[in-house]
Amino acid sequence: MVKLHEKQILIVDDSPTNAAALLAILQQAGFYVVIANDGKNALKKAIEILPNLILLDVMLPEMDGFEICLHLKEMQETQDIPVIFMTALSRIEDKVKGLSLGAVDYVTKPLQKEEVVARVNVHLKLSNLNKQLEKQSRELKVALAQLQESQIQLIQNEKMSTLGQLVAGVAHEINNPVGAITANSVYASTYVNDLVNHLRLYQQKATDEEISAHAQEIELDFLVEDLSSILNTMQSSALRIKDISESFRVFSRNDTEDKVAFDIHEGLESTLLIIKHRLKAVDKYPKIEVIKDYANLPEINCFPGPLNQVFMNLLINAVDALRDCHKKHKKTNSKPQIQIRTVLDNEKKHIVIYIQDNGMGIPEEIQEKIFGYAFTTKPVGKGTGLGLAIAQQIITEKHGGSLEVTSQPGEGAEFVISLPL
Ligand SMILES: Nc1ncnc2c1ncn2[C@@H]1O[C@H](COP(=O)(O)OP(=O)(O)OP(=O)(O)O)[C@@H](O)[C@H]1O
Ligand SMILES: [Mg+2]
Repeated sequence: MVKLHEKQILIVDDSPTNAAALLAILQQAGFYVVIANDGKNALKKAIEILPNLILLDVMLPEMDGFEICLHLKEMQETQDIPVIFMTALSRIEDKVKGLSLGAVDYVTKPLQKEEVVARVNVHLKLSNLNKQLEKQSRELKVALAQLQESQIQLIQNEKMSTLGQLVAGVAHEINNPVGAITANSVYASTYVNDLVNHLRLYQQKATDEEISAHAQEIELDFLVEDLSSILNTMQSSALRIKDISESFRVFSRNDTEDKVAFDIHEGLESTLLIIKHRLKAVDKYPKIEVIKDYANLPEINCFPGPLNQVFMNLLINAVDALRDCHKKHKKTNSKPQIQIRTVLDNEKKHIVIYIQDNGMGIPEEIQEKIFGYAFTTKPVGKGTGLGLAIAQQIITEKHGGSLEVTSQPGEGAEFVISLPL
């Protein structure tokens, strides 16, 4: 169906005189008019041309106006076309019935030229506005759904990248002690085997010569000494794993509904341990030195898990900035550093945590934006730009504190967390 005009009107009337009069009025007012003289014809034309408005006579042979209106409202294609009934002045009940069937208005016969044109115009305008509103609301719905979808995706990515870093960090940290235990256990079991065999010689009442020959063979003195040192290494490796697992527990304390007393330094330390593998020298990148200057802080009431996530986001950002700085400036002799300083401000009843790096800093024009949702300068797939937005939310909304940045471009950046005691 090709719509010929935006002002197309279908007149349904069985009286050729009435229809012709109406046609003249409407054409004069600039409308394009199509006429149907009975119900069947009206429905057929309505579907064919999808007029912008229908002027419908009530009294028609076979199918009356009400029935036609009912059919029009039942069909999806035609249900939104505004219908105006044409009724005799006296028949109030017709007007009520017409409106209740979904007509938007009525005009009374004999028709007044100005009235018909005015009502038709008003309803065309209303119907257009309605269509626009519906279209906009549909578009908004789609946009909203897309926004929600990408939000979920972003949060998911952020969670996965944090989780990924965690897992990588823990795997890396556990690797060394596990490696030590595995390698040493091979020696330990050989040594124990040798010792058992040696003991058996005593049980079997072997001769002194046999016993001392075997002792020489298994290097008994060295074996005893080495076994004890191997067991020590294994023990300290196991303790290290225990520490790591404890740190992990501290880091991920996300289980509290209410604030709990927490040692901020413990949080910082466990976070550092988890990102330790990213501080080491790799390929061309030098080791990142962490300088700590911890004040004597009381425990504070807070949500430890989320707070550690803030430390993690800030520290990872600092590492990224230092690595990026090194890559861009090829500073082979640079000494990348992260300084963590804590201060107790008794007067203001605050504790303040400074996390500073000597990376490339943040250009002035984007300092305002970095806490914004999804703002990132990192390549696609590397940063979601949610780190600081989440950190800001955790510090201000969850803890009533503040998170600010100061940066001298080229010199580095410093993030300042202030938390109420
Ligand atoms: N220490 C820093 N030095 C320099 N720029 C920084 C530093 N911390 C943050 N930025 C800038 O702020 C932007 C936003 O940081 P944010 O942590 O919110 O997201 P991201 O690090 O880009 O991505 P994600 O945290 O999701 O991996 C970064 O892209 C970077 O441009
Ligand atoms: Mg980040």
